[in-house]
Amino acid sequence: MKKLMIINGPNLNLLGTREPEVYGNETFDSFLEGVRHKYFGMEILYKQSNVEGELVNYIQEAGASEEIFGVVLNAGAYSHTSIAMADAIKAIAKPVVLVHISNVYAREIERRTDLLMGAAEGCITGLGMHGYELALRYLMGKM
Ligand code: DQA
Repeated sequence: MKKLMIINGPNLNLLGTREPEVYGNETFDSFLEGVRHKYFGMEILYKQSNVEGELVNYIQEAGASEEIFGVVLNAGAYSHTSIAMADAIKAIAKPVVLVHISNVYAREIERRTDLLMGAAEGCITGLGMHGYELALRYLMGKM
């Protein structure tokens, strides 16, 4: 089991141009290239979707895979609404670490509810793109 999977939810395909004052200027492709280069011994798979059911499918696929050890998940706005994603995380016997690029607790009140938190291993919020790398490193340390 040498692989990790990053799953990004809605609107995170627009990183780099989307509200740069909140999410920064870096595209996810550029970030991913950097971490894949840095941790070249590790295969880092990547999925993104704007569709809730597809995200549920990706979580299930990671759960069923014999090669994937764990998941780094930024569910975007579905973090605040999706019981289906929380159920999918609970249904798989693998560690799932949540990431929010922005500090959701310092923003609008509706972002303070995270329906996925109770199902996940933990969450990194507000540390920008570093959060993904920290979550990957946490999972690597458990492998
Ligand atoms: C986000 C925070 C969410 O509230 C928002 O809907 C996103 C991105 C973050 O990474 O900070 O799409 O998950």
